[in-house]
Amino acid sequence: MLKGIVYVSEALVDFSADELIALAADASNCNVEYGITGYLYYEKGFFLQYIEGDQDRIDTLMDNIDRDKRHRVHSIESTSGITSRKFPNWHMKQLTRSTLIQINMENVLMDYMTHCSKKNSLGSNHESIWRMIDKLSGFRKKLSYSVS
Ligand SMILES: Cc1cc2nc3c(=O)[nH]c(=O)nc-3n(C[C@H](O)[C@H](O)[C@H](O)COP(=O)(O)O)c2cc1C
Repeated sequence: MLKGIVYVSEALVDFSADELIALAADASNCNVEYGITGYLYYEKGFFLQYIEGDQDRIDTLMDNIDRDKRHRVHSIESTSGITSRKFPNWHMKQLTRSTLIQINMENVLMDYMTHCSKKNSLGSNHESIWRMIDKLSGFRKKLSYSVS
């Protein structure tokens, strides 16, 4: 059974550009081993991450991520109703603003992250986050080949 989780968290330490690259690269290396795919976005001190994979693996990883003292998870949304992976070849793609600008999604993501960081819950944005993930999934081939 595949499970997907999306969450927004607040960084508790300063991440340099190099540290963000290293974070995504380390995550990607571990995720290859555990069959986890997804993406990581960082903007103005907040992360938005989407992870998908085998239910048990995802639960274990999310526990690890939640315990990580470098950030505090504000809101989390999960679904078990995934029949196929939305990002099959992204083991942890680091999405940047310039990448999202190419597909006009930078504001969608920023609005969403701002909402989550303030309200501490996904609330009424529940549906919009899954629409956003599906939209990104549709663009993933284009993004895979673009320079970010
Ligand atoms: C924002 C953020 C995203 C992370 N994403 C992943 C990830 O996708 N995969 C992963 O293995 N670790 C990820 N980590 C690191 C984990 O929190 C944790 O350090 C790692 O799983 C090692 O845990 P362990 O030392 O208990 O084995 C992430 C950390 C942060 C702060």
